[in-house]
Amino acid sequence: PAVDVSQFAIPDIQAHARAIAHGNTVLVFDTTLRDGEQSPGATLNTQEKLDIAHQLARLGVDIIEAGFPAASPGDLEAVRLIAETVGRKPRIGKNGDIVAPPTIAGLARANKADIDKAWQAVRGAVRPRIHTFIATSDIHMEHKLRMTRDEVLETVGDMVQYARSLCQDVEFSPEDAGRSDPEFLVKVLEVAIRAGATTLNIPDTVGYTTPEEFGGLIKYLRENVPGGKDVIFSVHCHNDLGLATSNTLAGLRAGARQMEVTVNGIGERAGNTSLEEAVMALYVRNSVYGLETNIITTEIHRSSDMVSRYTGMVIQPNKAIVGANAFAHEAGIHQDGVLKHKRTYEIMDAATIGLNQSRLVLGKHSGRHALRRKLEEMGYHLTREELNEVFQRFKEVADKKKTVTDADLEALVGDEIYQP
Ligand code: KIV
Ligand code: ZN
Repeated sequence: PAVDVSQFAIPDIQAHARAIAHGNTVLVFDTTLRDGEQSPGATLNTQEKLDIAHQLARLGVDIIEAGFPAASPGDLEAVRLIAETVGRKPRIGKNGDIVAPPTIAGLARANKADIDKAWQAVRGAVRPRIHTFIATSDIHMEHKLRMTRDEVLETVGDMVQYARSLCQDVEFSPEDAGRSDPEFLVKVLEVAIRAGATTLNIPDTVGYTTPEEFGGLIKYLRENVPGGKDVIFSVHCHNDLGLATSNTLAGLRAGARQMEVTVNGIGERAGNTSLEEAVMALYVRNSVYGLETNIITTEIHRSSDMVSRYTGMVIQPNKAIVGANAFAHEAGIHQDGVLKHKRTYEIMDAATIGLNQSRLVLGKHSGRHALRRKLEEMGYHLTREELNEVFQRFKEVADKKKTVTDADLEALVGDEIYQP
């Protein structure tokens, strides 16, 4: 029988926000399809967006920001399709039970036309969310918006209230919060809460803050915004100084309970906080943070691969968690250590992120032990003398090449074993 998905709707958004704000689960808000798609050259077609959204649901993300419906009719249509399919499909949670479909969010500037389009796009989801924003830093208000602080405050109140009249779940972001006056931010956020926002997202839009500053800002806002302890503070960091993951973790330590991330860290300029880095930091260093996510970590590798293939954005080989070298060991001492005991040089199992095994990459630093193990994996069981011979010739080849491939090894071993 068809499942009645309305059972997964959130009955009381205020109570839900309060429970999250006081608990130790961090909601993962994935913006790969919105901020991530803003990466130069990373445009996705509707089918690709839908495929990625299904994979994000499988991965266990709590909220999918599916797009910016006012940006184009195509974006609105893609968000609508995602809301009506992925946003209505219960899924298997990390403990194996059936859980609610992800919340589907649509971004909107703080004006009625954008908010109407966002609502039109997300309303088909069981858990729809409107995410509205306006800039609050002096530089943005003066040069981009050409608005005074009072005008911005009034707009926040009016537009959050308008969004709330359409949708119970409203998130508000003061854009460029990282460079905004904290006292003004307190006023803006107080107005947003009064108007009905239950998630307050704090973006470090240009990746300018340091972990100490950003963590301090979240702490200050939670303590000073009236009603701030009962709503969800969220962190949204950009990576211009390579600090996005550190800033996100600092924000969580200061009490934020939602993090906005993208798969592989794709996004404008140097990108956003990478989902896999922040999630695995919380997972591997649980004793430090004491925080959980609902992410099914074994789906990380598959998600990363799909996003990279669909966007055409190649992952740097040394990228943490999902780079091709993240679980590879080339140096002889490291290979020897890992073969004796994995934990000597691996702080997590490759299987935890859905990779079957770590890869032994052979190169000029590799030792005899690693060569033997690799050859065994390839089905060659050599005598000690044969191995010595192959090892010597392997070193000669390795001196000339960056890595020695399986084909190189086959040629070497073939010569050795089958020579008359
Ligand atoms: O970086 C940013 O400020 C944003 C907002 C729209 C949340 O992406
Ligand atoms: Zn952003």
